[in-house]
Amino acid sequence: LRKTALPHYNISPSPKKRKAKRFWLNSSPNPSASSERPTLPNLSFPHTPPTPAVTMAAEQSAEHFRGQARLPGFAAPRRYDLRLTPDLAACTFAGSVSVSVDVAAPTRFLVVNAADLDVSPGDVHFAPKGSGQVLLPVEVTSALEDEILIIRFNEVLPLGEGTLVIAFQGTLNDKMKGFYRSVYELNGEKKNMAVTQFEPADARRCFPCWDEPSFKAVFKITLEVPCETVALSNMPVVEEKVNGPTKTVYFQESPIMSTYLVAVIVGMFDYVEAFTADGTSVRVYTQVGKSAQGKFALEVAVKTLILFKEYFAVPYPLPKMDMIAIPDFASGAMENYGLVTYRETALLFDERHSAAANKQRVAVVVAHELAHQWFGNLVTMEWWTHLWLNEGFATWVSYLAADRFFPEWNVWIQFLEESTTGFRLDALAGSHPIEVDVNHVDEIDEIFDAISYRKGAAVIRMLQSYLGAEIFQKSLAAYIKRFAYSNAKTEDLWAALEEGSGEPVKTLMHSWTKQQGYPVVSVKLKDGKLELEQTQFLSSGSEGVGQWVVPITLCCCSYSVQQKFLFRGKQDDFNLSGLVECQKKDDFWIKLNVDQTGFYRVSYDEELASRLRHAVETNILSAADRYGVLDDTYALCMAGKQKLVTLLHLIAAYKNETEYTVLAHAINTSLSIYEMMAVAAPEELVNMKKFLIDFLEPFAQRVGWDAKSGEGHLNALLRGTLLSALAELGHQSTIDEAVRRFNVFLEDRETPLLPPDVRKAAYVALMQTVNKSNKSGYESLLKIYRETDLSQEKVRVLGSLASSPDPDVVREALNFLLSSEVTRK
Ligand code: BES
Ligand code: ZN
Repeated sequence: LRKTALPHYNISPSPKKRKAKRFWLNSSPNPSASSERPTLPNLSFPHTPPTPAVTMAAEQSAEHFRGQARLPGFAAPRRYDLRLTPDLAACTFAGSVSVSVDVAAPTRFLVVNAADLDVSPGDVHFAPKGSGQVLLPVEVTSALEDEILIIRFNEVLPLGEGTLVIAFQGTLNDKMKGFYRSVYELNGEKKNMAVTQFEPADARRCFPCWDEPSFKAVFKITLEVPCETVALSNMPVVEEKVNGPTKTVYFQESPIMSTYLVAVIVGMFDYVEAFTADGTSVRVYTQVGKSAQGKFALEVAVKTLILFKEYFAVPYPLPKMDMIAIPDFASGAMENYGLVTYRETALLFDERHSAAANKQRVAVVVAHELAHQWFGNLVTMEWWTHLWLNEGFATWVSYLAADRFFPEWNVWIQFLEESTTGFRLDALAGSHPIEVDVNHVDEIDEIFDAISYRKGAAVIRMLQSYLGAEIFQKSLAAYIKRFAYSNAKTEDLWAALEEGSGEPVKTLMHSWTKQQGYPVVSVKLKDGKLELEQTQFLSSGSEGVGQWVVPITLCCCSYSVQQKFLFRGKQDDFNLSGLVECQKKDDFWIKLNVDQTGFYRVSYDEELASRLRHAVETNILSAADRYGVLDDTYALCMAGKQKLVTLLHLIAAYKNETEYTVLAHAINTSLSIYEMMAVAAPEELVNMKKFLIDFLEPFAQRVGWDAKSGEGHLNALLRGTLLSALAELGHQSTIDEAVRRFNVFLEDRETPLLPPDVRKAAYVALMQTVNKSNKSGYESLLKIYRETDLSQEKVRVLGSLASSPDPDVVREALNFLLSSEVTRK
């Protein structure tokens, strides 16, 4: 394969000025669109003079294809026949792909994605259907920066179907993308497994392909692997043929799907299995001997598949669902169609050593990835600009599922942490809109962020609450049906919701997805009228220029009547019915953004704020609203819009807080103020510490170190959060008790004195006692790290190692984190 640079004809845009446009052949037939065509180079083709009908495509040069955001559209894959032979010991693989291609416009070129693959020019040919001919390319060029192969033929390819065949070789890399190796232990021996991770654009590192989400095709996969291994792919096995030490495994052909969802895994695994009511096999694959740790995820998966079938009103499209824990894994989980891969901590649950927080993580991640089987896999974003449709939606609906299965977890209150994280990123001037231009493959990774996931989920929640749950669900089902086995854009979802609801969904939502940021709505009560003003909230304290269509909700003295309206202007007065009577009451209060379903902040005038503080103290507000009052006040304070003393005064109003998420938020808020003070006002630190410990101690006494029999999930979460916070604040009796319990645990890992929910807190407390002349606590934690085979235990240790007050110990801990002993588990 030639890897030399082609002579530069100065006709394609330089890589710096990439255009998010398809190659002109695929663009609008409108003649005015021709102005966008690149100037053609003056090249002659002596052997095949172009006929008039084929002029444009035939005259192109390979240079046209460089520096483009997307592949040209003149040829598209319909079916891939992919064969892969991994060598697990040598960490290499060989493969061949035979692609049925539809040539839609005249061309001498085929352009496909490929990266880090060895392809010899002699390994490529194209056979137009029915011609009996096999065309060999005159040149195969690898454009490294663009990750494409430009295959040039001497003649114009006939329109219609043909088969492109490419043989190739590659390395099972250690970068956790493309076709890679992960290391595991079997009977004390280290072994390699082969795993794929293709999203967003790494299928091209495994086989040459049209590696963009809108080029959907059918996949027929065949693997040649050692006899003793388990070989998995998106579809079930149809046949296995043993030939000596290896076997050939043939998988059933898939429905049409995008390349980023293709998956292949080869290694040694055990599994647990269950079936949905309609007979879909669901399996959780784990390391050999650990299949019991897959049971919880299996239960959740079966329930989730049943729920989503009903919610989307479309059955799960594949015959099986396999889920598997991979020891070395880049993200949390990946929704490959029918073969979902997970980091171990996001799939496995050990009854004795996993914490309540681990359990919740597993449930939410499983629900998220299974949601993608519909939202993402069956209906796929047309381009990465619409990634948020995948991720924002899956994030939102994973809470819907978790809420159904575990109502006692109050996950919709916990969801507010998602919004808070979205708010935080989106308050920066360098944020980006939910729908973002993606002009180069390198830009895709950047948008798997809190804007796509968390703001995305939050604006979906805002819309659902505005339209109503039932209309929302019915319109979604219609959207899924309409775009199944196809691709969709954000606009398509809005159109379906607009049709289903009769509401101006497009106008409303454009203001949230096409511009970055969000508003803070300032509220003043004046002469019996409510004055509202919106400005863009920025954490720097300056005012942005954005303006939104804000779905305002409002309660006045009671939750029994809620007012709703769209606030479109910059400023407006509202006459509220019932306001005057309500105002006469002693405990008068007004709360906007009821239950925090809107993605905006609210700033109240002094009088309204103090009344809300009172409503928090007397526990009149809903848990979500108590969270919101604190979160908004904190953000406004950090942006310099309110006094710190107002915030501290408000925090004190949470002294009888009963809801886990609200109290946890008060704790985290307090700790971040404490950390800031350590730098900005060290002279105040002692007072601040006393204030916080006085605030936390009564809660800690109530919750204690030991689980009460039959206590709930949220109590378990609260115990860990409270004790960790006290440990971080250096609370002596918490540290002493932690050390006492830890010492017993060190001798007996099964002791009931240190249940999983308090372990992280105990480790953090222990590290408070470590300094460079007494490192025994640190060494003990390393011992636990090295001895455990549970990833969640390792993560607890890693998360506490740097909690020493001694900078030298912190440095040593950080060096350990960067050492080869710590991998992405
Ligand atoms: N599609 C993503 C995985 C992914 C992330 C692929 C980044 C490529 C780049 C998957 O559905 C996902 O969102 N995983 C989350 C977990 C989820 C529960 C939020 C993750 O990996 O953290
Ligand atoms: Zn996702």
